[in-house]
Amino acid sequence: MNFKEKLNKENLPSHIAIIMDGNGRWAKGIGKLRIFGHKNGVSAVREAMEGCVEIGVKHLTLYAFSSENWNRPKLEVKALMELLVNTLTKETATFMKNGIRLNTIGKITDLPTHCQAKLKDTIALTANNSKCVLTLALSYGSRTEIVDATKSIIQQVQDGTLKIEDISEQTISNNLSTADLPDPDLMIRTSGEQRISNYLLYQMAYTEFCFLDIMWPEFKREHLFEAIYNYQHRERRFGKTSEQL
Ligand code: FPP
Repeated sequence: MNFKEKLNKENLPSHIAIIMDGNGRWAKGIGKLRIFGHKNGVSAVREAMEGCVEIGVKHLTLYAFSSENWNRPKLEVKALMELLVNTLTKETATFMKNGIRLNTIGKITDLPTHCQAKLKDTIALTANNSKCVLTLALSYGSRTEIVDATKSIIQQVQDGTLKIEDISEQTISNNLSTADLPDPDLMIRTSGEQRISNYLLYQMAYTEFCFLDIMWPEFKREHLFEAIYNYQHRERRFGKTSEQL
């Protein structure tokens, strides 16, 4: 089926979040080292970005490195950081051609300084692009993000700029690193694992989940279109009954 043709352009998810899982297993499955899987994951990143731009999805967020990923073997961490820098260099043309603006969430100051510098440069270079915001979650963990938001809100109360009775769900959202992004409508995870692994916990309260039985390096834009097609055939009730919608 050509899923792209069947998509309802009036009901596109405005924000898609992805957990790019299975690079290591994919590589192992063909007798290669884990980093070979990560390298091959870059073309899947391009498929996801270009797929979003092709149909008009405005926000794409990729879980590129979790706060827990620091516990991986040192060599793999180093290779992932180098891959990030090389990918940003190589994909700048893709960003510019497609109108993609780069954004990050997570503890960017944990990254090696040359990675931080590359991110900063690419963010500046793409700042005026407006077709799609690509957010990379790097050294990101949602629980830490919620802790930091809590500290910031308490500080505002202590400073007298915020009253306790004015704290709302929106106050929390506004103090998360995703304050400028809409909540994800759709979350896709590859590799067959069905968990959210400390990803956008507060933001995904009403997100539709799609778990794919392929490894990340195998991901093509057609998978994205199929996931969106399935999303469009779900009923999002947000706690209401079918009849109320
Ligand atoms: C999870 O697969 C993937 C990662 C921790 C890294 C994701 C990185 C990329 C796709 C590379 C390039 C991306 C950017 C944005 C530069 P895994 O290794 O945990 O797979 P496994 O569960 O099979 O071990």
